[in-house]
Amino acid sequence: MPYILLSSSLNCFVYVTLYFCLISFERLLDSCTGSNISIFKNPFRNSIRFDLNVALNRFTHIRIKLSSHRRLIMNDLSKMDLVKYFDDERKSLPVTLQKDKLCSLIKKNETLIIIGETGSGKTTQIPQIVYENILGPDEDVVVTQPRRVAAISLAERVSYEVNTEIGDLVGYRVRFIDKTNHFTKIKFMTDGMLLRTAILEKSLSAYGCVILDEAHERTVNTDLLFGIVKRVQNSRKNSSNPLKVIVMSATMNADLFADYFGNAQIVYLQGRLHDIKIFHAKKNVEDYFHDTFVTIFQLHKEAPERHDFLVFLTGQEEIENMALAIEHINQDPSLRNYPVIKVRTLYASLPTNEQLKVFMSLEPNEFARKIILSTNIAETSVTLTGIKYVIDCGKVKVRCFHPETSMDALKVENISQAQAEQRAGRAGRESDGYCYRIYSKQQYDEMTKDPVPEILRCNLGNVVLQILAMNMDPYKFDFINKPSTDAIEQAYNMLGNLGATKNSILTEMGHKMTKFPLDPRYSKIILSSVNYGCMEDIVNIVSILSTDSIFVSSLSEKKKKQAEDAHTKFKSSVSDHIMLLKTFRSYRKIRKESKSSWCDDNFLNLRNLEYADRAREQLLDICRYLHLPIGQSCGDNFDPIRKCLLTGFFENLAYLNQEKKYITVNAKKECKIHPTSTLFHSYPHCVLYTEIIETSQPYMKYITVIDKEWLLDVVPNVHQRHNYQVLMNSEL
Ligand code: CDP
Ligand code: MG
Repeated sequence: MPYILLSSSLNCFVYVTLYFCLISFERLLDSCTGSNISIFKNPFRNSIRFDLNVALNRFTHIRIKLSSHRRLIMNDLSKMDLVKYFDDERKSLPVTLQKDKLCSLIKKNETLIIIGETGSGKTTQIPQIVYENILGPDEDVVVTQPRRVAAISLAERVSYEVNTEIGDLVGYRVRFIDKTNHFTKIKFMTDGMLLRTAILEKSLSAYGCVILDEAHERTVNTDLLFGIVKRVQNSRKNSSNPLKVIVMSATMNADLFADYFGNAQIVYLQGRLHDIKIFHAKKNVEDYFHDTFVTIFQLHKEAPERHDFLVFLTGQEEIENMALAIEHINQDPSLRNYPVIKVRTLYASLPTNEQLKVFMSLEPNEFARKIILSTNIAETSVTLTGIKYVIDCGKVKVRCFHPETSMDALKVENISQAQAEQRAGRAGRESDGYCYRIYSKQQYDEMTKDPVPEILRCNLGNVVLQILAMNMDPYKFDFINKPSTDAIEQAYNMLGNLGATKNSILTEMGHKMTKFPLDPRYSKIILSSVNYGCMEDIVNIVSILSTDSIFVSSLSEKKKKQAEDAHTKFKSSVSDHIMLLKTFRSYRKIRKESKSSWCDDNFLNLRNLEYADRAREQLLDICRYLHLPIGQSCGDNFDPIRKCLLTGFFENLAYLNQEKKYITVNAKKECKIHPTSTLFHSYPHCVLYTEIIETSQPYMKYITVIDKEWLLDVVPNVHQRHNYQVLMNSEL
């Protein structure tokens, strides 16, 4: 019998009545719907406080049952088939086969490290095992993912498996989207989102279990979460709600994690990988994009139909270009007798419905081949079925920070050997497969063994800000791999210059900055836009910059010209940021039902604009929360916007020297203007950039022309520094 906590006799009467009403209603429901859909365990285990929470919990289960029942009746039988199909598939997963063992290990250990091949069922099954067997009734389980798209697709998959609507029992929270409700028990989150949750609620008390998934990726946010959950776990150790931590990883660097958690238990799941034949390029590869395309073309002619390809590339633009090139293969009359290629793409900013297409099978009788073009997201985060051939370009796009020059850049780099093995592994999930590496054996041997953790190669500005927001000392933070003291010092410098810290303590401005899910420089420009009367405009610009390019460009020569013409009306002679703003303003004025065709006519990416719109709403919500005066716009006088950008990005300046080359003010490094910039052919004296892309050489991506005299007013403390004096004295 449950232990009943009575706060007063009246409350008791209300609760007991409510409780029995709910129970009777549920029984009635069960008898109507058949108990086979009663997939939830009785949450009344052991001794449970009978209070309103319990009643609410009970209510959740009934609600969920109702909603599944409704779905089963309203949506035809195919949904039932799907659930059954998932059930059958789940039965053979390594995690399911070892469920009892895993369950007892999770129960026994406060921290458990689970290592298993991609596709073993870790991410989809372990949270369900925890929910069903481990959690107390008012506890939730949270699973972190480094990538948004993985968090969403996995939450959707799990909610399918338990046959509920997404956002009910199973939900997700990622930047700018929250699909959870008060009753959600299994929450998928990006690691960044859980970090923000931890800043707001330090003890993570809602969670009985935190699962840090894809730990081998060693993103900055996951690394920070390691420190945070370890601390929370220690602080809740002897309390009534201890925290269980599960670390899950695909590769074998388990000892590092186990040591970090004081010799935690490691469990290795039995893998089931088939044979994979690996081929290296005969000679060292110089143009991996070209060679990747040639390999796809060759293999397409040789491989049997229905043998699908998975191609690893570095980013959206490259993927779109490759997709276009492959379309040409389809149109080649000499290849009429070969299967039709169905290209599917997968990258972080792709919206869910689009990325879900990669999971869909081809029609049974189709004479076709699926070719999936993916970033390293398909390396471990998502499982793709039916892949027989992997084509690995050997590169990955990573964010790098050069401490010697304080320059932050997105850079295409070689993958590590561990990543190469993971990628090859994608070909052998269901049967024997092949992996074609677009790099020679020598190039493979020169790769590092493991990837360098992001925290050791990124700008720590945001890391230090987040640690300070939790009242911790960044120098003493329990990092799994400690960044250098220099790197932390540099981050403090940057925060000091932005006004976020003073004498290493968060200022009021710094506190406000922590409320935004943004790099501190972006939060700073939003906050300072109040002084320039352009908050609406700056929020718009930041929202657009938080998504991938809104301009569609990778088209045939003819269409490219049409696209350029269509974009002319948005152009600004002084700034890419203003061009983004003008485009976004126009988009927002179009009626909802016409937006799609308007985007087509103007060669704009509707998905990315929609994403920016959602981002905008959330940023405005935060501004409202901070009581900032929203709605101010400076219309067509863009100078205040350009000055405002300077308040956050004064470190990202470059000037034209006598030899007509751009030199960055801080790093004194030569940089070119990116060909996609509206300023590509012009040579203004001083420019501000918000991104550096490094391919063969560094390129400044989003650029605004700056009048160097503005520095005196906008950042008076900074312009006196030596580097800035060089800029001030420079002449054309
Ligand atoms: O986390 P891990 O890589 O161990 O596996 P998982 O993500 O839990 O996937 C288990 C199985 O679910 C895989 O075999 C996939 O085929 C399937 N799955 C899927 O079909 N669609 C998803 N969105 C996620 C998983
Ligand atoms: Mg997984």
